[in-house]
Amino acid sequence: MAAEGLAPIRFVTSRIEDAERLVALRIEAMRDSLTRLGRFDPQRARDRFLDGFKPETCELVLSGERIVGFVVVKPGDQGLLLDHLYIAPSHQGLGIGAVVLQRVFERADAEGLRVTVGALRGSNANRFYARHGFVQTHEAEWDIYYRRDISKNLKYVRDSRMANTLDQDSHQDGGDTSGMTDDQNAQDDAPTRFSRQPIRSFVLRQGRMSDAQKRYMDELLPRYAIPYQEAVLDTAATFGRKAPVVLEIGCGMGDTTVKIASIRPETDFIGIEVHGPGVGNLCKLIDEHKLTNLRVMQHDATEVVRDMLAPDSLAGIHVYFPDPWPKKRHHKRRILQPAFVAQLASRLAPGGYLHCATDWEEYAQFMLETLSAEPLLQNTAADYAEKPDYRPLTKFEARGLRLGHGVWDLVFKRV
Ligand SMILES: C[S@@+](CC[C@H](N)C(=O)[O-])C[C@H]1O[C@@H](n2cnc3c(N)ncnc32)[C@H](O)[C@@H]1O
Repeated sequence: MAAEGLAPIRFVTSRIEDAERLVALRIEAMRDSLTRLGRFDPQRARDRFLDGFKPETCELVLSGERIVGFVVVKPGDQGLLLDHLYIAPSHQGLGIGAVVLQRVFERADAEGLRVTVGALRGSNANRFYARHGFVQTHEAEWDIYYRRDISKNLKYVRDSRMANTLDQDSHQDGGDTSGMTDDQNAQDDAPTRFSRQPIRSFVLRQGRMSDAQKRYMDELLPRYAIPYQEAVLDTAATFGRKAPVVLEIGCGMGDTTVKIASIRPETDFIGIEVHGPGVGNLCKLIDEHKLTNLRVMQHDATEVVRDMLAPDSLAGIHVYFPDPWPKKRHHKRRILQPAFVAQLASRLAPGGYLHCATDWEEYAQFMLETLSAEPLLQNTAADYAEKPDYRPLTKFEARGLRLGHGVWDLVFKRV
């Protein structure tokens, strides 16, 4: 399923009356990094930003009509200074930061300029910039500085096939400093694509969220979401108890996730999904069912597993009807690649289980081979398993059945 719900990204020059909203967005985006450094001071963050705020140098990053970030670029001694780049935490991890950077790079390349940037020590922004070709130049007490030279190798392409696609990109957006402004391109909202990107298992397409879905996102996401962070999650603190934790990857609209969490109250569940309307719906269902054992994450699951889940920590992992990517040239996008399966296995506690299901026979065979080849996993069946009782019919399964597909469950245990 392609993720819908994120309108194309546009850039619009800011106005003086945007100042307070930008202050709030900046504070929200910096909160975690500054708190980790013991330096979170909203008043100071506000004053520092307003002191230097020149609306004509600041571009709002809009998804539809919603401000999801902003960017300030200034000409400096060393080329372009990326002075601010903030993406709202609710929209991080969706490739928006990469789209903004691409715009900065296009301008820098057109003008033959370097780009320099500083990132708060320990923040996600450091990895974000490193991934996008910046090299570290020097460090100060709180910040690390980077430079991107005028590059002949890094090539950015506009790809008309991607016209409604925002995210093919890898990074999670830095929530920290960096910046730039680009008046020339201010009205150009055509999504563009960075030509060298890690392979994603999903595509975020343009799509409208209903007003109700938007309301769920605004009101309920803060209540039920676990924000992505580059630090191991304390699940006991998240759920307020010490209980087995099961992860579900790609929970779609969340109906299955909610049904399972409802019949297994002794277990805590984390559902990961990138698709905005799905996340909104899952939040609504958690609220309606008053579930205290289910939380949602809106982020690329591969990064969540890599960065936030401790080895040997999970009681189970559910991957139900992952996108089959049927075309041969797209097989590399399938989420259950050997390296990711190895990472999943390492996050399971000994005795924990990995339960996958698909309605795509050839993917089922690929799963069987991949899971069987993983030394930390052991099949609980001769090949495919009986469908465990706790798994209800999922939305995608029902669709597959309507199309005459078969269904294959695989249940492996961590040795
Ligand atoms: C085919 S749908 C299946 C949804 C649901 N499990 C069901 O059976 O109805 C696959 C889902 O996985 C999500 N997805 C794909 N790759 C993902 C990733 N790397 N991180 C989080 N979600 C992902 C997609 O957005 C999509 O909603």
